[in-house]
Amino acid sequence: MLEEINHTVAYIQNKISLVPEVGIILGTGLGGLAKEIEIENVIEYSEIPNFPVSTVEGHSGKLIVGKLGGKKVVAMQGRFHYYEGYSMKKVTFPVRVMKLLGIQTLIVSNASGGVNANFEIGDLMIINDHINFFPEHPLNGKNLAEFGPRFPDMSEAYDKKIIAKAKKVARLNNIKVQEGVYLGLSGPTFETPAEYRMVKILGADAVGMSTVPEVIVARHMQLPCFAISIITDLGVEGKIVKITHEEVQEVAFHAEKKMTILIKELIKEL
Ligand code: HPA
Repeated sequence: MLEEINHTVAYIQNKISLVPEVGIILGTGLGGLAKEIEIENVIEYSEIPNFPVSTVEGHSGKLIVGKLGGKKVVAMQGRFHYYEGYSMKKVTFPVRVMKLLGIQTLIVSNASGGVNANFEIGDLMIINDHINFFPEHPLNGKNLAEFGPRFPDMSEAYDKKIIAKAKKVARLNNIKVQEGVYLGLSGPTFETPAEYRMVKILGADAVGMSTVPEVIVARHMQLPCFAISIITDLGVEGKIVKITHEEVQEVAFHAEKKMTILIKELIKEL
C-alpha cells in the first residue's frame, strides 16, 4: 500500500510544478468550483497509476491542480464511493496521496438528506461532527504507522477554527448556513422513513454516503478537515417524498453558486 501511494505521488509530482497547500474533494454537482481554479494541470484519474476510476454519472474523474483564493490547491473532481464496490482503502487512497503531495488542509463537500426539522432543501450545512455507520472501517487492518497512530483521536474531526472562519465568511457574504452532525452510511439506497427516523434518533442532522471515510483517513494523518453538505432532500416526517439522483444533482447545482463563494472566500482565510 505504501509503495503504491509513493508511486502515485511520484507520478503526480512529475506532472505538476507547485506544491498544493489545500486539498478539495468536490462532491455531487459541485464540480463548478473547479471553474474558479486557475488551472495549472489537469490529470485524468484514468492516467494516474493505482487511482480508482469513478463509476457514477455526474462524477467526472479528474485531478485539478492550480490556484484558488490565492492558495495552491489540488482538487478532486469526482470522488469514490464505497457503494461503487471499492474497498475503503481505495475510497480513501487519494486522501493519502494528497497529503503526501503537501496539503495542510482538507476541504470536502457532499450532498445529503436533512433529518433536522429546521432544515430546508438547498441549505448548506457545515459538518461539525460525524457518526460512522459504514460497514467497513478505512483504517481496518495493519496500521500504517508512517501515516498515524493505531488508535487515532477523533475528538475534533472537523477543525473548530476553520468552522469559525467559514461562519464568518458566510455572514459577510449573506450566505445562510446550518451546522450539524453528518451520519455516513453505505447506500446506494436512499433511506426508508424508518431509517431517516433512526438517523435522527442517533443524533445526526443529515445523512449521506460519503465524506466520513475520507475524513477518518485525513485525521489519522492529523490533517485538519472542513466539510460542508448541501441538503438536497428531507428525511423529515411529513416531508418525505420520492427522490432520485437527478433531483439530488439538480438541488446541488442550484446551491453551487453560494457554495463556490463560501469555499473560495474560506480558502483565502486559511
Ligand atoms: N440519503 C443519503 N444520501 C443522500 C441523500 C439522502 O437522503 N441525499 C443526498 N445524498
